[in-house]
Amino acid sequence: MEAIRVKDTDDLPEVADLLLQMLRPGGVVAFYGEMGAGKTTLIRAICERLGVQDNVNSPTFSIVNEYRTEAGEPIFHFDFYRIDRPEEALDFGSEEYLSSGYRCLIEWPEKVESLLADDIDRVYIRVSADGAREITVNP
Ligand SMILES: Nc1ncnc2c1ncn2[C@@H]1O[C@H](COP(=O)(O)OP(=O)(O)O)[C@@H](O)[C@H]1O
Ligand SMILES: [Mg+2]
Repeated sequence: MEAIRVKDTDDLPEVADLLLQMLRPGGVVAFYGEMGAGKTTLIRAICERLGVQDNVNSPTFSIVNEYRTEAGEPIFHFDFYRIDRPEEALDFGSEEYLSSGYRCLIEWPEKVESLLADDIDRVYIRVSADGAREITVNP
C-alpha cells in the first residue's frame, strides 16, 4: 500500500477520515513512530473526527486516558513510553481495555508488543527530510 503523505497538520482532519475508513471499527490501533513523529497529533485528529470534546493529550499521570465520542462510546488512549516491561502494563489493567471491544489508540506499542494481538491495526508514521509525514497503514 502507498504511504499517505501529510504535508502539514492542516491536512490531518482529512487524513483522519481516511484512516477511520481503513481501520477496523472499534478496534485496537498501534501507532509507531519516533519521538515527535506525530503520534499524539494524529490520535487527536482521529478523536476530533469522532466528536471527542475532551482534551486529547498523552496521559501524564497514568498510562491511559479515556475520552467519549459524540455517540458516547469510550475511546482509550495509551502511551506506554515510560513502561519498561509489558508486565507493568498488565498492572494497569491494560488487558481489560485491550479486550473491551472499545477503540484503543496506542502510542509506543513496541513496549507491549507481547500483549498485542496479531490482527490489530498498525499505523506507521515516518518523518521525511522535508518535515512532511508519511503514514502507512497495515503494510
Ligand atoms: N503531519 C504533520 N506535519 C507536520 N508537523 C506535524 C505533523 N504531525 C505532528 N506534527 C508536529 O510534530 C510535533 C510532535 O508531534 P507529537 O504528536 O507530539 O509527536 P509524538 O506523539 O509522536 O511524539 C508537534 O509539534 C506537531 O505539531
Ligand atoms: Mg506522543
